[in-house]
Amino acid sequence: MTGRSTAGAVTRALAEVHAEVGVLSAGEIVSYIPRLALADPTLFGVAMASTEGHRYQAGDADVAFTLQSVSKPFVYALALADRGVDEVSRWLRTEPSGEAFNAISLDRATGRPANPMINAGAICATALVAGDDAAERYERIRAVLSAFAGRDLDIDPEVYASEAATGDRNRALAYLMKAADALPGEVDDSVDTYFRQCSIRATASDLAVMAATLGNGGVNPVTGVRVVAEPVAVAVLSVLATCGMYDASGDWLVRVGLPAKSGVSGGIIAVSPGRFGVAAFSPPLDTTGNSVRGVAALREVSSRFGLHLM
Ligand code: DON
Repeated sequence: MTGRSTAGAVTRALAEVHAEVGVLSAGEIVSYIPRLALADPTLFGVAMASTEGHRYQAGDADVAFTLQSVSKPFVYALALADRGVDEVSRWLRTEPSGEAFNAISLDRATGRPANPMINAGAICATALVAGDDAAERYERIRAVLSAFAGRDLDIDPEVYASEAATGDRNRALAYLMKAADALPGEVDDSVDTYFRQCSIRATASDLAVMAATLGNGGVNPVTGVRVVAEPVAVAVLSVLATCGMYDASGDWLVRVGLPAKSGVSGGIIAVSPGRFGVAAFSPPLDTTGNSVRGVAALREVSSRFGLHLM
């Protein structure tokens, strides 16, 4: 196929996936962060970015929403870049927890979180980001997420305020880690920076590029900028393969076969290493906290393009 007909085929396939999956109406919008409960349940966008820098999209792929847990792999990448794999693994395990994203999945003996994709582990990874204070750490996080996306991202102040007002479970997780000497920072600073990173907004189209950057060895395929070193990108993808979909990670790997990460606002990314970043956005979630249409769309994209890694 020529370049142009390949592009046409991808665009057509994505439009078909969007139409097919768009009819699904199951799922509940998240409510424990009150501002997120106001999301429009009909929004649905799908996007892909190739590691050659070509971009494709269908539906509401230009609507911005807060990243929530989809921020976690990118902040983990920054922690790895700042501290190195050895130092990070002294604080964070990389084992699937088999539990919900907000569970108390802390090692009994050491208090260390099971992995950086559950909330406890993500708060720990945020605390590992270099910076003299919380403001500098947040700005470095915002800057690296922007480099992954290839454009300047900002925070949704209303979602941040809503999350900060209702985030006691995350504070409790941070206190438990702190009490076990397993939090590499102060509770208030670490949790506040984590709330801010979760409230950074991006579109499905941005997320496809962010995912493609991970799949392209850490180089943003659209801007050409190296965002993280290749071993960092590889480490992040490995953790996503085993821990990215929480309690549904095993089933996801069997059915879809790609490293992936979801968030409670309805965003989801998957990475086909060396080929594509794929992203979807649709607010209604299944009982494990993953977007119903997002999961279905990515499953369909993986199957149509033969992306399953195994
Ligand atoms: O900390 C929280 O609960 C949210 N800011 C993010 C959780 C999330 O997205 C889990 N993903 N499915």
